[in-house]
Amino acid sequence: MTVHELRQELTARLARAGIASPEAEAAWLLTHLLGVSRAKLGLVGGESVDEADARTLEGWLARRERREPLQHILGLAPFYGLTLRVTPAVLIPRPETEQLVEIALEQLSILATPRVLDVGTGCGAIALALKHELPDALVMATDLSHAALEVAAANASALGYAVTLVQADLLAHPEVEAFAREADLVTANLPYLPEGDRDSLSPEVQADPPLAIFAGQDGLQHFKRLLPQAHALLKPGAWLLAELDPRNAETALASATNWADRQLRPDLLDRPRFLLLQR
Ligand SMILES: C[S@@+](CC[C@H](N)C(=O)[O-])C[C@H]1O[C@@H](n2cnc3c(N)ncnc32)[C@H](O)[C@@H]1O
Repeated sequence: MTVHELRQELTARLARAGIASPEAEAAWLLTHLLGVSRAKLGLVGGESVDEADARTLEGWLARRERREPLQHILGLAPFYGLTLRVTPAVLIPRPETEQLVEIALEQLSILATPRVLDVGTGCGAIALALKHELPDALVMATDLSHAALEVAAANASALGYAVTLVQADLLAHPEVEAFAREADLVTANLPYLPEGDRDSLSPEVQADPPLAIFAGQDGLQHFKRLLPQAHALLKPGAWLLAELDPRNAETALASATNWADRQLRPDLLDRPRFLLLQR
């Protein structure tokens, strides 16, 4: 079978399995299999795929047809121009979180050596994207999950980025508290789905670890604890930037009364998603 024929078959099977972007995923699987760029994929369409590669692809496809996330099958996820290792121990980084990185960079652009604390780092996506953009930044990243921190450590080491990783419950850790007192920005994409969403999630979201997605009855369990902790520790002028469920972003904003500046920023679909607070 040629690459072109395989691409068509893959697309059709992924569409039948209910995958939302079958063309894009078919292309992603083939570029990964053949080790070519997306641009090159069209140019090799007439070449035939050998049997071993076809078997590997069939294995991946069968898993994807069962709605296992593509990122788990390949063990990789793109984020802010980086390719990050992911496992079922971490949330697959989402495109909207790339916007959080953009907002963070806006706040940090005037600082020569910014200090950034990323709370609930998962695979390290936000912390590593910021370190990539701001090589002189001092970055600490935390997570409650030891398994997640192992993935973040593997990503930091593969990229050669120095990021201090600490296992902690939000900011309640002496090393984290000390860092937070001097930090210019705390980023937090913590779990924010209400427990009631559990049964209506797509199979792909259900593959994320529950510790990474659920936050009590209202989805604000972590934010409500983080807010006073950050208020007590941050220096005047420092920022807290949180990603939230658009359904409760207004409630979160209303609860942050004692901050010097408060801004709710929209995501690309114009839903209130990011809360930026200045101490
Ligand atoms: C929504 S995921 C986000 C991961 C990563 N920041 C990203 O944007 O891809 C939330 C992360 O917060 C971590 N987490 C959950 N509860 C926590 C807590 N109390 N303290 C610190 N981290 C926590 C989870 O283990 C998970 O890695």
